Amino acid sequence: ANKLGSKKERTLAMIKPDAVTKVGDIIQMIYDAGLIVTKAKMTKLSWKQAGDFYMEHQSKSFFNNLVQFVTSGPVVVMELMGDEAVSVWRKVLGPTDSGAARKDAPASLRARFGTDGTKNAGHGSDSLASAARELELFFPSTTGHGPSNTAQYSYC
Ligand code: PPS
Repeated sequence: ANKLGSKKERTLAMIKPDAVTKVGDIIQMIYDAGLIVTKAKMTKLSWKQAGDFYMEHQSKSFFNNLVQFVTSGPVVVMELMGDEAVSVWRKVLGPTDSGAARKDAPASLRARFGTDGTKNAGHGSDSLASAARELELFFPSTTGHGPSNTAQYSYC
């Protein structure tokens, strides 16, 4: 049953190349957090795909480093669904820098499976708007299969 006042949401999770071998443990963490996996695929991003995915960071000093890292091997992308999925998944991930995560949130995904500020094991959409955009990039709704890619569910 839905918690009173909570919102069913969808979000985009990416397991980065450094943590792809840990996908089993990571899916367990997702379910333990009360979310479910509704879509998933493993893929190797091109430089262009990664640049589009991270377009909001284009002007940042770390942009090339970030794109280089996420294109260095396969990633697993997933659509997650559940109550407040956007913020719940980011909580599971923990702080962006895996070093900081080990200090502040030792049970988090980035503390367990990441290394530092570059190799940090995972990504999560930072808002419903980002989730809609990122889900559309990886799971385009134009195929006619599955639910549409608005990130907020209302039927549950
Ligand atoms: S910002 O400027 O506050 O928006 O940046 P931040 O939220 O800390 O990070 C945004 C994403 O960029 C990644 N990042 C890096 N990647 C590689 N190298 C360096 N130095 C670096 N610094 C930040 C960070 O992991 C975030 O990636 P995602 O996939 O969105 O979690």
